[in-house]
Amino acid sequence: MCGIVGAIAEREVREILLEGLKRLEYRGYDSAGIALISQKKNGDPFIDTVKTVGKVNKLQSAVKSSKLSGRVGIAHTRWATHGKPSVTNAHPHRSGEDIALVHNGIIENFEALRSVLVKEGYGFESDTDTETIAHLIHQRRVKGDSLLEAVKATVKRLEGAYGLCVIDNNEPDKLIVARSGSPLVIGVGIGENFVASDPLALGQVTDRFIYLEEGDIAQIEREEISIWHKSKKVKREITTVLHQAGDTEKGQYQHFMLKEIFEQPRVIQETLDGRVSKTSVLEQAFGIEAPAIFDQVQSVQIVACGTSSHAGLVAKYWLESIAKIPCQVDIASDYRYRDIIVQPGTLFVTISQSGETADTLAALRYAKKLKYVASLAICNVATSSLVRESDISMLTMAGQEIGVASTKAFTTQLAILLVMAIVLARRTGLSAEKEKKLVKELHKLPHVIEKTLGLHRQIKTISKQFSDKHHSLFLGRGIQYPVAKEGALKLKEISYIHAEAYPAGELKHGPLALVDNKMPVVAVAPNNDLLGKLKANLSEVSARGGKLYVFADESIKYQSEKRIKVINVPSCSEILAPIVFTVPLQLLSYYVALTKGTDVDHPRNLAKSVTVE
Ligand code: G6P
Repeated sequence: MCGIVGAIAEREVREILLEGLKRLEYRGYDSAGIALISQKKNGDPFIDTVKTVGKVNKLQSAVKSSKLSGRVGIAHTRWATHGKPSVTNAHPHRSGEDIALVHNGIIENFEALRSVLVKEGYGFESDTDTETIAHLIHQRRVKGDSLLEAVKATVKRLEGAYGLCVIDNNEPDKLIVARSGSPLVIGVGIGENFVASDPLALGQVTDRFIYLEEGDIAQIEREEISIWHKSKKVKREITTVLHQAGDTEKGQYQHFMLKEIFEQPRVIQETLDGRVSKTSVLEQAFGIEAPAIFDQVQSVQIVACGTSSHAGLVAKYWLESIAKIPCQVDIASDYRYRDIIVQPGTLFVTISQSGETADTLAALRYAKKLKYVASLAICNVATSSLVRESDISMLTMAGQEIGVASTKAFTTQLAILLVMAIVLARRTGLSAEKEKKLVKELHKLPHVIEKTLGLHRQIKTISKQFSDKHHSLFLGRGIQYPVAKEGALKLKEISYIHAEAYPAGELKHGPLALVDNKMPVVAVAPNNDLLGKLKANLSEVSARGGKLYVFADESIKYQSEKRIKVINVPSCSEILAPIVFTVPLQLLSYYVALTKGTDVDHPRNLAKSVTVE
């Protein structure tokens, strides 16, 4: 995904910008560029640009052999959405000699805006939506607007998502930035200021940050930062981030797994940023070819391993209920050795944290010989084999996951899969109104997860009751069955307690025979149509002396009883419930393992990335 860095200082900024881009490399990109306001021999300012396709070190070498120099500048790593990866399509984009800008996000109405601009005589060099923004700003500048006024007027015409940073050699002492749907943070220095799409990019120059809010526009000068929101000047707090624990440090947490569980609100937000506008999902975020591919899809085949396969099972319910599209989910090690019958119009989807799991890769290679519409990888590693070998991909923004038991990778996979279900549903009759409602729910997700994490103390207390147990059952109905499966997998992976998940309706067809007072039974009970049936299944357990731990949506007011311990989960919509209810089960397994004293981050016999069959 794209990354932005900008700087305005008394000193040379090119190395600061390049270092910032290096720090954003982990997000994945295909080209990079930098623009600085330099000075001609006569002292007049001009914008000088260097762009390259490929890695940031290519840009670094190109910059080294150029005369690029300046104290004000912007830089960008691009992940192609409109137009292939090329030097012309790489950012910064220009309008004439005066304006350059970098942009993260997708402008949905760019074609309409572009045709108006073409009629007015603007020529386009690139295939990007971003170049349109540069010309719109230019159009206002020639009418006499200041750069700030021009950006303010321009963003009013944009639909979709953007994080923007603009420079103009006629106003060489400022950066103008704007955010809506794509994150931007201002790095505050002394006599110098910075901007980036991720504070990590600025760790080498400052520890003080202003997090811009949705709809903010800011003018950044060396000594002053001014911010407007809905035409009013506003003050935003400066936050000091003394040391940002990177993905490879535990920071204040005892284990990586706990840190990664607590990172979920942030990484889910980062996964949604730029993929979802206020009212709709941005399907080009799946890649340039994605819309044409999605147009052909009549069914979906998902293939994955381990936790990632559970994400696939949840997605099956969303695809069928939201998109009305049939979906089949297979374990990669099984799929790769089967005779597969491909229905016409089937999209092949792999899900993987690492993108290097041997069975998943082998399944992709097998599938490529079959008649699928295309292959889509949902993956956490931009440079992985799976992403490189698939036709299109969508990255989860979980950051590096160190704990062997997957947590944040899973919930970010679910976020992307929900976006995918909505994108496909558009083609099967989902109205704009319904899409808006679903997107509104998606925007609530980071906050609901944050609230759910507040259950950690309560869960730690009950976890003590599991530490001497050898077996456990996890129950869920419908879309919550894969959630129960994921909960059981977490418990067995890190606490070595045998845990088995069952669809609650299947209880009486076998597992009920196992229930006694030594068998803890965990159930997930969101507020949905199956609640009555689930409650009936749970009574079957307590009637046989089983001890139940029920994670229940607080709105249903499920009461604790002698053999039923209810843990109230913050209320959420049905659509978010699989993601939200995963979190308390992650916490449960973590605290049980902690009590048992197992090696939480490196459970015995397991590997983070299984690159052998
Ligand atoms: C291993 C890991 C699991 C992971 C599975 C699939 O078993 O321990 O956490 O879910 O591999 O890995 P992938 O990288 O393809 O998601």
